[in-house]
Amino acid sequence: MTTNQARLSSEDGAGGVGRSGSGVPASDARTPGPTPPRKPLLQRARGAATRLRQRVVHRIHRVLLPWAARGPRSASLYYLFFNRSFAREQHATVAGRLHHLRYEASSGVASVVVRRNIHRLEKGLCMTPPRDRFALDYIDETLKAYGHLLESSDAQDLPLIRYAHDVLQAYFGATRWAAGAPQPALFERLNARLSMDRAPASEPAAPAPHQALPGSDVSYAQFLALTRRRASVRNFLPKAVPRSAIEQAVAAAAQAPSACNRQPLRYVALADDPLKRRLAQLPMGTAGYAETIPALLAVIGDLSAYPFERDRHIIYIDASLANMQFMLALETLGLASCAINWPDMEERERKAAALLKLAPYERIIMLMAVGYPDPVGLVPHSEKKSVGEMLTWM
Ligand SMILES: Cc1cc2nc3c(=O)[nH]c(=O)nc-3n(C[C@H](O)[C@H](O)[C@H](O)COP(=O)(O)O)c2cc1C
Repeated sequence: MTTNQARLSSEDGAGGVGRSGSGVPASDARTPGPTPPRKPLLQRARGAATRLRQRVVHRIHRVLLPWAARGPRSASLYYLFFNRSFAREQHATVAGRLHHLRYEASSGVASVVVRRNIHRLEKGLCMTPPRDRFALDYIDETLKAYGHLLESSDAQDLPLIRYAHDVLQAYFGATRWAAGAPQPALFERLNARLSMDRAPASEPAAPAPHQALPGSDVSYAQFLALTRRRASVRNFLPKAVPRSAIEQAVAAAAQAPSACNRQPLRYVALADDPLKRRLAQLPMGTAGYAETIPALLAVIGDLSAYPFERDRHIIYIDASLANMQFMLALETLGLASCAINWPDMEERERKAAALLKLAPYERIIMLMAVGYPDPVGLVPHSEKKSVGEMLTWM
């Protein structure tokens, strides 16, 4: 028994726009059209039965909800016996934990552990006054994961390897160790496996003063103008989006902050039919323009980045921060975008997971339509909150 999830979707496509670029709503009540043919009796009977079933289910849930909302235990029982809405997230979370534990030697898991721990070492190195011993509770884990990465031949090409090496070197240079301590010796041994000519150097190699960060002459006025220029566009020109533009936008997205620098996300770009069309039909918010999206991106979160449930929401936060940079970068390239809500509904999740070949621990965070905006296509104004509404000083 499930709730009628369709009711709960925030973007259900009710306001889908026309395909012509005119911006005319697809279901404009003022335009008298030909009367649609009556559906066959059997189809109508099925429709009526479905609606009746939905009404009954809805009533039952209204009765159950006050009991379910009493506390965490009754909520768990409710979701165990009467509502399977969280089942997929639970499965992905537990599959992610298992993958993290079981495949710690894989380059995927090792790179997440290295990213996180090297970031923590960098934070330690940035402390004032400097400390001569820190990270004792995770340096062994870090060296182990660094060793796993060095064993993987693909990982040797990643900037991550050289970065990890440089930060570890700075760490062992800055901290004091007793003679014969195993950690500095292990680090030296591991480095014998590092292929310095393959590993691209990162710049700078370890913590550097703020004044060494790359400069930027974007003024507030320019930045505000860019944020005002971005709007959700649903009327695109029938023109292909160059791969290089998507790559540039991903490069901007990759600069976003992420919790402990794990970066637990990836983008899947679909520019060719039929895959793109099939995916575009799956969410509920593409009604009226699914067919005309030039490039469609799926933003995928990776729950194998975390050994514990407590961090399961980070994928959504990290991806949102990256997506905003992605969208703004598109604007600078003359492209436009529209975020598309991904509804967590079993049938759609199953189809999308098969289409995108997702691992059990990967979650679709959202989709994004990308294309060149039709200059005469209408764009909703979507009034924003004022600063006073958004901000409270305490
Ligand atoms: C998480 C998220 C999901 C969205 N889902 C859809 C969607 O499914 N279909 C759609 O047409 N627009 C979707 N939008 C676009 C919003 O309708 C739009 O951002 C909002 O109305 C504000 O307008 P603006 O983006 O032009 O500022 C979504 C936006 C966000 C952030």
